[in-house]
Amino acid sequence: MIDPAKSPPLYVPVGMALAGILGLLALQALVLYKAPMIFGPFRFNPAALAAVHLFTLGFATSVMIGAFHQITPVMLLGRPVEGRWALLQCAAYLAGSWALVWGFYHSAGPWITAGGTLVVLSLLAFAALVVRAMRSATQWTVAGRFMAVALSFVLGTVVWGLVLAFNLRFGFLPNPLDYSPLGAHVLLGLGGWFMLTIFGVSYQLFPMFALTNRPGAASGTTVLVLLAAGLWGAFASLLLHLPAAVTAAGLVTVAAGAARYALDFAAMMRQRRRAELDLSMRFAVTALAFLVPAALLLVLSAWHRPAAVPGAWLFLFGFVATMILGMLYRIVPFLFWHYLMKHRRTKTQRLPTLDQMFSQRAARAGYHCWTAGVALTGLLLLGGALGWWDARYLVRGSIILNLIGSLLFAGTLLQVFTARPIDGKE
Ligand code: HEM
Repeated sequence: MIDPAKSPPLYVPVGMALAGILGLLALQALVLYKAPMIFGPFRFNPAALAAVHLFTLGFATSVMIGAFHQITPVMLLGRPVEGRWALLQCAAYLAGSWALVWGFYHSAGPWITAGGTLVVLSLLAFAALVVRAMRSATQWTVAGRFMAVALSFVLGTVVWGLVLAFNLRFGFLPNPLDYSPLGAHVLLGLGGWFMLTIFGVSYQLFPMFALTNRPGAASGTTVLVLLAAGLWGAFASLLLHLPAAVTAAGLVTVAAGAARYALDFAAMMRQRRRAELDLSMRFAVTALAFLVPAALLLVLSAWHRPAAVPGAWLFLFGFVATMILGMLYRIVPFLFWHYLMKHRRTKTQRLPTLDQMFSQRAARAGYHCWTAGVALTGLLLLGGALGWWDARYLVRGSIILNLIGSLLFAGTLLQVFTARPIDGKE
């Protein structure tokens, strides 16, 4: 999987993963501090907008940018990105996304539009760099096809997001109470960029992590076509204010794609050669389990708006973040292990195994804290959406669990980076 000649410099994927983790920690501090405001009514809510974009851009997309630069050339046997171009692109992206978050938090129009513009430009550069690696590909996999299509979704999300950002400032869209433009942005971002990418990459990684068979390419391609057609169709329908039945048809197509993916995933789990799931796969299975209630609540929010709050929580923290953390638990030690291998003093110097590079007990404790925090907060927010209690203050208690989980994760990374070759001279 890792051919140094096909890999970008280590600081690209690892630097972006660290930037992402910093975003996640900052986000949780913000959520604890501003929970009563963030979990209130979500439209035009500065703290909620800042928190959502600190998650989507500051954390998740940062990690994914590094992962795309790493995976694309390695998996497709193409030309790796040049370190300094990637560095420039990533620095512009990080500056833009943090400026945008700052602008949302302070309702500062110029920061929002300037930060948003920088995000869009840096992601155009990102897409150009990844497409360059893809054009030199010498083998195409299902995951590679998903990643190519995912690029169209991230660009669609942020370009339309920028239109909404200018609209916040100059108010040119006719009806401020219309939810369709916001729904279109959220659909592309959550469905197209996050869900579609995660499904696609899982076709590559799950067979390696769980020691199982890879589903046939035709099946993965069917999932991709259903998801992409359904999501772009529903997006166009929302934008053009077509009848609700057209949007619903798009969403049903997406649901069919997700159901087909569920069958592939079930087959991968059934055919695995090692009964016990490792930590990454445990995170992955948990993430997919959170996706089910998350998607139901988000669809339900078309009729009962408050359901969007637990839905968004379960989607972002339950599905996206749980999956990303699980993958990083495996990939970061793996990349650093290869770095150590390449820089050994002598060929006889032994390296620690991946499991020896960090405390397994602390990592397992991290998994339990994280998932308990997601589930408990989800339940509290659901009760709040049903009017059973005021969840905005209660969630401060449960989100602490998530913070502990991510601090344990950050500790794992520090441990990994202090691993060194074992000085055996045999
Ligand atoms: C992967 C990238 C992104 C994702 C997944 C995403 C997701 C979201 C979500 C879930 C919301 C709803 C939040 C709420 O109403 O509280 C939202 C709102 C919004 N986003 Fe993004 N976003 C992304 C990038 C961007 C970018 C780059 C910009 C600006 C350039 C932007 C501008 C906006 C604006 C202005 C709103 C509020 C729109 C309104 O209420 O009319 N987004 N976004």
